[in-house]
Amino acid sequence: MNKVLTLKFLMITVIAFAFGACSNESKPGNKTEGHTNKHQTTKTEHADLQAILDKMSLKDKVGQMTQLNLDVISVGEIYNLKEPHELDAEKLNKAIVEYGVGSILNVGGHAYSLEHWHEIITKIQDIAINQTSHKVPVLYGIDAIHGANYLLEGTLFPQQLAQAATFNPSLVEIAAAITAYETKASGIPWNFSPVLDLGRQPVWSRFFETYGEDVYLAKTMGTAAIKGYQGTDASNPEKLAACMKHFFGYSMPWTGRDRTPVYLHERQLREYFMPTFEAAVKQGALSVMINSGELNGIPVHADKAILTDLLRTEMGFDGVAVTDWEDIMKLNNIHKVAPTLKDAVAMAINAGIDMSMVPNDYRFSDLLVELVEEGQVPMSRIDESVMRILVMKKRLGLFENPVPFKTYVYDKVGSAEHDEASYQAACEAITLLKNENSTLPISKKAKVYLTGVGSADHIYLNGAWSRTWQGTDPKWDDTEKLSILEAAEEEFEFATYLNIDEETLTLQSPAKAKQADRIVVTLGEFPSTEKPGDISDLDFDERQINLVKELARTGKPVTAVLLFNRPRIISEIEPICDAIIMAYNPGDEGGRAIADILSGDVNPSGKLPFTYPRNSNALLTYDHKYTEKLDPSFGMNAFNPQYEFGYGLSYSTYAYSDIRVSTEELAGKATIDIEVDVTNTSEIDGKEAVLVFVSDSFASITPSVKRLRAFEKKAIKAGQTITYQFSLSASDLAFVATDLKWTTEEGWFTISVADKTKSFFYKK
Ligand code: BGC
Repeated sequence: MNKVLTLKFLMITVIAFAFGACSNESKPGNKTEGHTNKHQTTKTEHADLQAILDKMSLKDKVGQMTQLNLDVISVGEIYNLKEPHELDAEKLNKAIVEYGVGSILNVGGHAYSLEHWHEIITKIQDIAINQTSHKVPVLYGIDAIHGANYLLEGTLFPQQLAQAATFNPSLVEIAAAITAYETKASGIPWNFSPVLDLGRQPVWSRFFETYGEDVYLAKTMGTAAIKGYQGTDASNPEKLAACMKHFFGYSMPWTGRDRTPVYLHERQLREYFMPTFEAAVKQGALSVMINSGELNGIPVHADKAILTDLLRTEMGFDGVAVTDWEDIMKLNNIHKVAPTLKDAVAMAINAGIDMSMVPNDYRFSDLLVELVEEGQVPMSRIDESVMRILVMKKRLGLFENPVPFKTYVYDKVGSAEHDEASYQAACEAITLLKNENSTLPISKKAKVYLTGVGSADHIYLNGAWSRTWQGTDPKWDDTEKLSILEAAEEEFEFATYLNIDEETLTLQSPAKAKQADRIVVTLGEFPSTEKPGDISDLDFDERQINLVKELARTGKPVTAVLLFNRPRIISEIEPICDAIIMAYNPGDEGGRAIADILSGDVNPSGKLPFTYPRNSNALLTYDHKYTEKLDPSFGMNAFNPQYEFGYGLSYSTYAYSDIRVSTEELAGKATIDIEVDVTNTSEIDGKEAVLVFVSDSFASITPSVKRLRAFEKKAIKAGQTITYQFSLSASDLAFVATDLKWTTEEGWFTISVADKTKSFFYKK
């Protein structure tokens, strides 16, 4: 065996050993039960695709598995394209005709107009259909992460983390449906969204891209997003293919830095990091993007146990698996598991990758042809992947309708209706964390002085993936949308801005601040994502902390509005703020939503989808273990966050009744019905998300202090009482045991809803 083969053999053995063969038995049912994948191809369609595949040369097949960056077919250099953007006819010909490239992605640096997207898609599809022998349309993919963010006219929604804070899956589904509509309107049928990684490591630069720390919440929101993107038939002109990402375990880097090692026991992987993807597969997700990092020492792109045994055999996923950016190359030059790029290609394809997001050259295509010719990658592996890609194109209706805007009128892109949906989502996301002495809401007649970073632009409202990758260039702001300052000026009779020095962030005229009735200070983290967003700790900008201290010294009530990508530590200033609003990255309508919450036109109803740490190193989740609990009798105070998961105030007050259960002994496969009445005891209409936690008293694997098992948000009018009903079965209470199977052990469980608890016994 030569060196390369020895290494390969060793890796496969190690991988198989590390991940183990896993059985499907005794998995818990979940709330998204029922295979709603209506994206199946019929037998005849399959035969047609097989006929195309049979006629393809090896180079054509490999072409289908190749995904290139738009830069490769554009005028100019890669990452330095000619402006305004133009396709390069010669390069386009090389990609589509000579190499038979199956997929293109991305934008050349910034968002384009609808008109320009039409030109791009038309030219690409024209050449694919009219100048290639197999006439297979190209599959264009894009990151429409929080709305159609690479379409200039596209509606920008709150980021995923903020969407999770709504605890309202229907808003997530609507946001995704609008994103699908607007993305498809530009001619693009594939969206690299949603992120189904859990936000349990708040240092990570992509925290804001997750649905937060809880697996049940993320699973519910992820499923809603896929429903919104794909509907029941992704070939519908208003729908597109979702791409669940990044499979899996990507979000928990030990250091917090993006794409650095993740160590997770298989039990944790199965209990926390897999269910979001399993639910997405059940929902019919048409594609998956692979985790760019290494998991337990093995880069996931080279891990056959994950990419084939787990994803295909166990989870039953039949869609397309695309790599993340340059990730085959990274097996060689970053991860150092493949001595050459050619080894890297063989490793990834043999592990189960269908499509390589190469994306900037043709080496992948050339090397894969060689590898098949030399017998290092079997043709069967190639045929399997190409068939999946053709099936995806079929499921998207691309063969019949490669240029959707030619046959369908999309007249709602960027419409008031779409803005309204974004506004609603922002209103329900924004989370009131503190409100002493009724600082909020602020009378519209009050003198409101606003200051801080991010209040006058859209950068901090939208965050990364907004018209550009990092979202930091105000040049692309939609100035028709209101900044926080503009919205406050409309909202209040007297609202003004206190100037601060750009460098030091100190007030230019401190005395002026004393004239305010109310001071509102926006605090922000400059947007970033992926590697550019790496930080060493969660400590917050010293200058902004000092600004708050300076404002507090005026003696006027101070409200802090947090425009944060992740929870930056505010423990030093929390006590001196009278009110605190977590606004996340609320999107383009965030200015309006914040102003309406400040004035009380909107009653806040968001709840934190993560545990807000008090200290930079105290990074615990709500579902921590008993050893991490605050318990002064043992001299421990490990769990003492700034704010707990699920925390969020309202201008209404709510009273919860005792919990009623249908049985105090849950037996076998039966269900337990849970009811609780919530009364709005205030004079203000509100919306309340009721969160149902369950604690397992004793278990063979140390139980978490509690786990979220159900939730629902409802509107409750002033004075009204509403009954919330939930139903749980034993499988909803399960955990992954030492045998890696889902198990519910007999014993006592305690339900907790707000401050009420109720226990029941589970008998097998
Ligand atoms: C990111 C993915 C994204 C891809 C394509 C990668 O760097 O990790 O989330 O979909 O680029 O832009």
